[in-house]
Amino acid sequence: MANVHLKKGWHLPDRAATPEHVFYNRRQFLATMGFTAAGTAGLLYGNAQAATGRSLQDTITGLRPLDAERNPAFKVDSPLTPAAVAGKYNNFYEFSRHKDDVWVLAEKLTTEPWSLEVSGLVAKPRTFDVNELIRAMPLEERVYRFRCVEAWSMVVPWVGFPFRELLKAVAPTSQAKYVKMTTFMRPAEAPRQGLKPWFGPGEPWPFTEGLTMAEAMNELTLICVGLYGQILPKQHGAPIRVIAPWKYGYKSIKSIVKIELTAQQPPTFWNILGPSEYGFVSNVNPKVPHPRWSQAFERDIGTRERKPTLLYNGYEAYVGNLYKA
Ligand code: MTE
Repeated sequence: MANVHLKKGWHLPDRAATPEHVFYNRRQFLATMGFTAAGTAGLLYGNAQAATGRSLQDTITGLRPLDAERNPAFKVDSPLTPAAVAGKYNNFYEFSRHKDDVWVLAEKLTTEPWSLEVSGLVAKPRTFDVNELIRAMPLEERVYRFRCVEAWSMVVPWVGFPFRELLKAVAPTSQAKYVKMTTFMRPAEAPRQGLKPWFGPGEPWPFTEGLTMAEAMNELTLICVGLYGQILPKQHGAPIRVIAPWKYGYKSIKSIVKIELTAQQPPTFWNILGPSEYGFVSNVNPKVPHPRWSQAFERDIGTRERKPTLLYNGYEAYVGNLYKA
């Protein structure tokens, strides 16, 4: 891919801009959070939100202007999808099966306070207050292509931190092979979770997804807390979601409350509903059609252009080695 470079300079600007005493305070903050210096050295090079008392919105604003120069590794050759288009075309089945009303219906979701449990095959299981977790993590802004299994796509500037920083903080054991992720379960706020099926077992709420440990540790995999320079809006999965840009969009689970490290491949929402249509791996691949439609092309929801789909959504340089036999 001509537009993917492996230059990894994105920590440097924040580090260079952070005075010594702020790092010192930040170390203290991380220590009180229970992060050890050895396990989370990368955290020290992130934003200085925790030490300075800056609000999350100020920190996110501070990541701008858009990172084309600061973060060239993830430059994308297509134009950004307008925020208003992406924000009114959402899949969030807890609220609706339609894309155009999720942004209204998801307003019912209470996102404050919010806890994230990280448990299973880890030496240091933790339940984080999400605001404190976000303050301790090195936020950055990355523009990624995003490809839904339904053959539409968009280009979005996400704000988040690498999934692997969170994993390092809980010290996975050597038995951990998979990451199981779970969305909230609140039928009073998300009405489709309370629907009684006409027949059969119905939808397997809460929504779950999974990655291998190697996929979760890959540098592309982000835990997102914002987009377009703003705190993550509810329709996009506030307050905390995953983005794995080389996989079909349903792997990018929204509004997560639990991450469990497991030895066995976990069951997942769409795989339970349609195992022959929605596999566990679900990498974007133009040569592997969905049983009911081709995956060779996609429609960009911003430009409305029909364009060829790229293997691993254009991220082969980063993830191709994960899938070599
Ligand atoms: N996460 C949950 N909890 N529930 C969902 O229905 N839909 C997935 C994914 N994450 C979904 C989810 C699908 S199919 C897609 S394409 C993306 O979210 C859409 O993300 P967006 O609305 O932010 O564009």
